[in-house]
Amino acid sequence: MLLSADKLTKFFVSSKTERFCLWHDVNFELFEGESMAICGESGSGKSTLLFALGGLESVDSGTICFCNQMISHHLNPHIPGISYIFQHYYLIEELNVLENLLLPVRVMGEKVDTGVMNRAHHLLLELGLEKFSYQLPRTLSGGERQRVAIGRAFMMNPRLILADEPTGSLDEQTSLRVSQMFFSICQKFTTSFILVTHNENFARQTNKYCRLEQGELKRCK
Ligand SMILES: Nc1ncnc2c1ncn2[C@@H]1O[C@H](COP(=O)(O)OP(=O)(O)OP(=O)(O)O)[C@@H](O)[C@H]1O
Ligand SMILES: [Mg+2]
Repeated sequence: MLLSADKLTKFFVSSKTERFCLWHDVNFELFEGESMAICGESGSGKSTLLFALGGLESVDSGTICFCNQMISHHLNPHIPGISYIFQHYYLIEELNVLENLLLPVRVMGEKVDTGVMNRAHHLLLELGLEKFSYQLPRTLSGGERQRVAIGRAFMMNPRLILADEPTGSLDEQTSLRVSQMFFSICQKFTTSFILVTHNENFARQTNKYCRLEQGELKRCK
């Protein structure tokens, strides 16, 4: 098993005397290569859940295991094997496209050797970005920027990608193109992913389509 969530609960303190339960009894299992989608109304707690699953957010009870390691007891922004893609790309504006792809390698203190460069060029090619390699992000369109963020997420050869509305800022056509590209690269590398999305068509293309409603994660597919 790649990732499992067992009886997860999350509370927030909303005022001095009040706390509310965001979600409770969240359970699921994700096997290597499987994909999952989480839909739900704005404010239902999708991002909070996604961040908790990656060790960026605490849970109040329950356990999360990734690759047989319990990750729910210590926050850790850099769990090896997990990468993120966000709605607003979060590219480094001062770095060109290729350097943005290489960033996770540098952050992890690894050497940028020929193998790493080959991987970066391969991903740029795969994402149709090779001609933009030496351009700064501000010279790219939204769809192109998000493809850079996708390439960056794949650089460390992750086993799991956590994607929070990755096409939420794009127009319908571009969103469709970028999503299909993302799905096909995940399939090619057998990378599992959890996708938070408002788009049911994308959600249905995953192995496990769930909805977060009234604090419960309900399986739709
Ligand atoms: N640290 C916090 N303290 C208190 N409440 C919080 C905190 N973080 C988030 N919340 C609340 O939890 C709820 C869920 O937030 P979250 O960002 O997970 O929703 P979401 O489902 O991702 O929404 P959207 O679709 O708009 O992105 C919101 O009402 C938010 O205000
Ligand atoms: Mg959100």
